[in-house]
Amino acid sequence: MKTIIAPSVLAADFANLQRDVEMINDSQADWFHIDIMDGAFVPNISFGLPVCAAIHKHAQKPLDVHLMIENPDQYLEAFKKAGAELISVHYEACTHLHRSIQKIKELGCKAGVAINPHTPVSLLEDIITELDYVCIMSVNPGFGGQKFIEKTYDKVRDLKNIIDRNNAHTLIQIDGGVDDKNADKLVEAGASILVAGSYVFGNEDPKSAIEKIKIEIPQ
Ligand code: DX5
Ligand code: ZN
Repeated sequence: MKTIIAPSVLAADFANLQRDVEMINDSQADWFHIDIMDGAFVPNISFGLPVCAAIHKHAQKPLDVHLMIENPDQYLEAFKKAGAELISVHYEACTHLHRSIQKIKELGCKAGVAINPHTPVSLLEDIITELDYVCIMSVNPGFGGQKFIEKTYDKVRDLKNIIDRNNAHTLIQIDGGVDDKNADKLVEAGASILVAGSYVFGNEDPKSAIEKIKIEIPQ
């Protein structure tokens, strides 16, 4: 099995969004990563439901919606309607995380939890069997194009141990500063979903950039 690649639309050209969506359709990428920021949970505002629905209209691959927002429960159904197939909520934004995860699943979506760089993976031990994926933030959420935090490798290894210990089938997603220089090491540590924004869209040849990080996952 190879890595699941989810290019982050945050780094696309919003004035040529359909062109960029079609580029991803024609590439080896697997999902569209859709970053939703509310200017409250994170210090930036990206785009919201209508843009997500517009992407969905042209996308031929699943939409992975990363909710960097307060009170995510309030918007889960709306994002499902806007085309989300996978939804991740932030650990730090959910008082009743278990309930939020159940709601995502009841909507028929795959459920993920995203954790900020300062949040230890051990906090997920009691909910790990419920999660389809964990998104380990390898930058502080809010902006594309930031520097990858090296501590991430340890977090991936620790989370992999928690997953194995609990016989869970949770996949590990990495988000922030991912490129062809850290992809191998991340996959070796246990990651299988790579989100990449500026590395893909900032590349002269985005399709071959995607191919470079679509790598074999060791069994
Ligand atoms: C950061 C977002 C990321 C971001 C990744 O808050 O969640 O998905 O778009 O962008 P790069 O790959 O440029 O760090
Ligand atoms: Zn993201």
